[in-house]
Amino acid sequence: MTDVASSCRWGILGAASIARKNVRAMHLADNATPFAIASRSRSKAEAFRAEHGLDRAHDGYEALLEDPEVDAVYIPLPTTLHREWTIRAAEAGKHVLCEKPVAANASDVEVMIETCRDAGVQFMDGLMFMHHERMRRVESTLDRLGPEPDLVTSRFSFRGDAAFFENNIRGDVDTEPLGCVGDLGWYCIRIALEVMGAMPDSVRARHHRMHGAIPIHSSAELDFPGRDGVRHAFIQCSFVHPLAQWVEICGPEGSMRMDDFVIGSPTEAVIQLETESQLTEQDLVHERRLERISIEDCVQEVEMIRRFSDLARGARPLEPIWGQRSHETQRIVDAIMSSASVDGARVRLVP
Ligand SMILES: NC(=O)c1ccc[n+]([C@@H]2O[C@H](COP(=O)([O-])OP(=O)(O)OC[C@H]3O[C@@H](n4cnc5c(N)ncnc54)[C@H](OP(=O)(O)O)[C@@H]3O)[C@@H](O)[C@H]2O)c1
Repeated sequence: MTDVASSCRWGILGAASIARKNVRAMHLADNATPFAIASRSRSKAEAFRAEHGLDRAHDGYEALLEDPEVDAVYIPLPTTLHREWTIRAAEAGKHVLCEKPVAANASDVEVMIETCRDAGVQFMDGLMFMHHERMRRVESTLDRLGPEPDLVTSRFSFRGDAAFFENNIRGDVDTEPLGCVGDLGWYCIRIALEVMGAMPDSVRARHHRMHGAIPIHSSAELDFPGRDGVRHAFIQCSFVHPLAQWVEICGPEGSMRMDDFVIGSPTEAVIQLETESQLTEQDLVHERRLERISIEDCVQEVEMIRRFSDLARGARPLEPIWGQRSHETQRIVDAIMSSASVDGARVRLVP
């Protein structure tokens, strides 16, 4: 009989802003315990521990990895530190939930995933929306759009002010070299991958605005193979436009739209389904059938923590698919960066 722990004890590397949301989720998930925090600053770790009700505060990330009572680590560090700390965590026998973008490039992701696999620990990226019950409804509703969806259009953006570009890790090429593509495009790429069920054959992309060497407004076109020819995803991501987080998924017979696909409402997340759309009465009236599919009371970050905690405590077998999806997403990020560096030339992805 395998040994299943009743709760996964979590350690957090870095007192990051986003860690607050996930620590709250750890408090809410019945199979998780928010146990320890580590910071580069002892006083910062202690303040975070006290404010968020954790048991231990560690002086430095290494000390947390040496804590034998920590089962899994959450890594919300700047992107350029993900590779090092994922590898060190896996080698210390800790399961790894790593923030996105997972790394600076796909070859780093390969090493991270291989190290986790060799150490027998779970790897997953911190994409909360994938764990919202709404995504299961998206999957089961796709056939209403026709034989296969062939167009995914999405935008994820928010507007940073001068202080953002001056002080946030996202304004510094040494911490976040992939800019809005890694920070926001990651979500748009992932939903396209999920819906299309395949990797794109090729990518074309442009950076429309830069902050030094960091892209802060980018767009990309992804070409996917399809039964009846090429299928497309169009992606926009930006740190200079108003907050938007929408996706439209289209097929020959209909479309579905989510206005908050990244941070889905915990009380009522909605899919707007439109079918039988046509002009009638001599092109005067646009008739359509609109359905509102509603999913109530699902907190996506709690679902993510619950799922991961079950994997880490041995209640379900490890799931390599999460690492695979991160790697695929990162390969597309790499292709977007390559294409944009040559002003939108087509970059082919080798299968
Ligand atoms: N999944 C999501 O919904 C979501 C949402 C927001 C952000 N994120 C991702 O989470 C990560 C963190 O984002 P955030 O906005 O929470 O960042 P943040 O508040 O700046 O936190 C980053 C943490 O990293 C540590 N750190 C180590 N070296 C650092 C350095 N050289 N410069 C700055 N910080 C350093 C710091 O912790 P100590 O000083 O305590 O060591 C800092 O608190 C990013 O990868 C981001 O893309 C994900």
